[in-house]
Amino acid sequence: MSHKILVTGGTGYIGSHTVVELQESGYKVIIVDDLSNSNINVLDNIEKITGVKPAFEKFNLVDSERTEDFFRRNVGIEAIIHFAASKAVGESVEKPLLYYRNNLVSMINLLECQIKFDVPNIVFSSSCTVYGQPNILPVTEETPRQDSESPYGNTKRVNEDILRDSIAANPQLTGISLRYFNPIGAHSSALIGELPSGIPNNLVPFITQTAAGIRGELKVFGDDYNTSDGSAIRDYINVVDLAKAHVVAIRRLLKGKNKTNYEVFNLGTGKGLSVLEIINKFEKATGAKLKYKIVPRRTGDIEKIWADTNLANKELGWKAEKELEETLLSAWNWEKRVREIK
Ligand code: UD1
Repeated sequence: MSHKILVTGGTGYIGSHTVVELQESGYKVIIVDDLSNSNINVLDNIEKITGVKPAFEKFNLVDSERTEDFFRRNVGIEAIIHFAASKAVGESVEKPLLYYRNNLVSMINLLECQIKFDVPNIVFSSSCTVYGQPNILPVTEETPRQDSESPYGNTKRVNEDILRDSIAANPQLTGISLRYFNPIGAHSSALIGELPSGIPNNLVPFITQTAAGIRGELKVFGDDYNTSDGSAIRDYINVVDLAKAHVVAIRRLLKGKNKTNYEVFNLGTGKGLSVLEIINKFEKATGAKLKYKIVPRRTGDIEKIWADTNLANKELGWKAEKELEETLLSAWNWEKRVREIK
């Protein structure tokens, strides 16, 4: 019998790609999502890719009664992947309580239900934002975490702590925090991808919308950083590579291959690229010409970060595989399809 996995936020960007990979690996998926930042049509598109429409329930995990009721009705869930969260950095600065409530209370509710209904395993969707601007690069999992510039970033750090402490107090639980660097791109079918609502905050959706003529020009936030070309550096990882790491993490927990009850892994490529390099690679990969201008730095942005991926490579046996050109092309192919899907 196939293992049953709850994927919270499973209609979202990283969630939907992970559901595809889980189903293609034979797992049975049930999604919980309140659709606050995703579209129900994603379920049909997951079915088109995998041949299976995942089970789905619409509610917000902040509602503890609904969450309990869900677990009471859905017996036999063996693991959770917890993506569901609010993720707009700027909005979190304006509405901190909304972010703390949504992101922290949902985590607490899930963990309480895990204990009450004997769901032993959880994978948490964390972020490299927990490192702030590190002094030494690349960052390993041992690099000290720092206070974030945004409530969003703090919810990632605090949720890691809530998970770590809950596991320490409940030895029947095991968990993994996956710290994502910058996920980009889309599934090669161009049936699922990122669906930014309104003006995109993130670089690659802004690039593809500019190339598609939806935005007049891309603003490059800062060319006076201490980097080779002055623009900021990130570690951009293909979303399908990232999704595959979740399947590996789930398998590790289900097979009891974890070294300790709570583990943390960086998920990146190990390579840093500047904003200007990304623009250049996008133009080369797609043949599109991008209009852009340099503007002042964006508040809260760090200068540079990229991952040390040795632990994930060695312990998980996972490695980011896709070339950047292919990834940027997949983002562009998705951009050309996205309005048909919405
Ligand atoms: C941010 C969050 C991260 C979150 C991620 C995904 C922080 C510090 N970072 O990452 O936690 O997981 O979003 O939502 O909280 N850029 C431009 N022009 C644009 C957009 C971006 O030049 O129009 C630049 C940025 O200044 C940055 C790079 O592109 O140097 C990447 O930006 P972005 O895609 O927004 O991701 P992060 O800020 O790295």
